[in-house]
Amino acid sequence: MENSLSIRERWLARRFEVEKSRRKRQQHRAYVPKYWLFFDYLIHLFGQFLKLAGYYKSGLKNALDIKLIKVGLHFPHLPKAFDGYTILHMTDLHLDIHDQYEDLIIEKIKDLSVDLCVLTGDYRRDTSGAYAQVMEPLKKIVQSIQSKDGVLAVLGNHDTYLMEKPMVDMGINVLTNESVNIQRKGKSITITGTDDVHYYYSIMAAECLWKQTDGFKIALVHSPELYDVAAGNQYSLYLCGHTHGGQICLPNGKPLITHLSHGKEYFQGLWKYECMTGYTGSGTGTSGIPVRFNSFSEITLFTLKCK
Ligand SMILES: [Fe+2]
Repeated sequence: MENSLSIRERWLARRFEVEKSRRKRQQHRAYVPKYWLFFDYLIHLFGQFLKLAGYYKSGLKNALDIKLIKVGLHFPHLPKAFDGYTILHMTDLHLDIHDQYEDLIIEKIKDLSVDLCVLTGDYRRDTSGAYAQVMEPLKKIVQSIQSKDGVLAVLGNHDTYLMEKPMVDMGINVLTNESVNIQRKGKSITITGTDDVHYYYSIMAAECLWKQTDGFKIALVHSPELYDVAAGNQYSLYLCGHTHGGQICLPNGKPLITHLSHGKEYFQGLWKYECMTGYTGSGTGTSGIPVRFNSFSEITLFTLKCK
């Protein structure tokens, strides 16, 4: 990682400043108040309504039914040495939304052996306050992952910069506007991970995508909101989450809310933009209240293939 210390220090200074300001910074709308207390109150009211109306139990059952989705992705320019390379993707774990949620996740992944595991942010339920409660469950999950090239992660808009160190201490390579190269038989691919851009956008997130010029490149971003920057810099694959696939959708699958200010059409599943393939995971967990309607909790297993 070239110049990683100064990149990490610049990221830390910027993240600290924006977290302190309690205003969100986005690429397309700068300096917007987060209004998270009001939104939390609305969610609480909605949860009460679901309980009174008798829908809560079925919504909870849907949320706890985590599906393992297998996706094959074909790339003509993928180095042959990476043909069959497997990536386990989990996003939006929100581990403190439900007791022992980590055990449901571990049950799904414990028998998998993969080349790489990537986590694309949102490890706790709330967007501020305590975070220690999700560190031990996250550690248990990490210890259950069988991955040859380890675990890479980025932070989401629910996360704080304070999580970075304990995550590194448990063996996760947290990418804060940085890239790593993965080698196979003398060939390499590049994986770039940015900081969250939904609350914590800075030009550094875009810069780290501009810097990488050659080869097969994968972007890890919490939300789809940098899709055009990544595609413009010849990224082949973009993995993200943030939207929870809507979490609460109409019977036709349309989400009530995506929480996206850019790229709303990429709120769920597999998508294509110019030459880049993208995948927006539906979220392994849920936020707000632990219910889902017309959407599903997901762990995704990608297999990369040469065409
Ligand atoms: Fe989330």
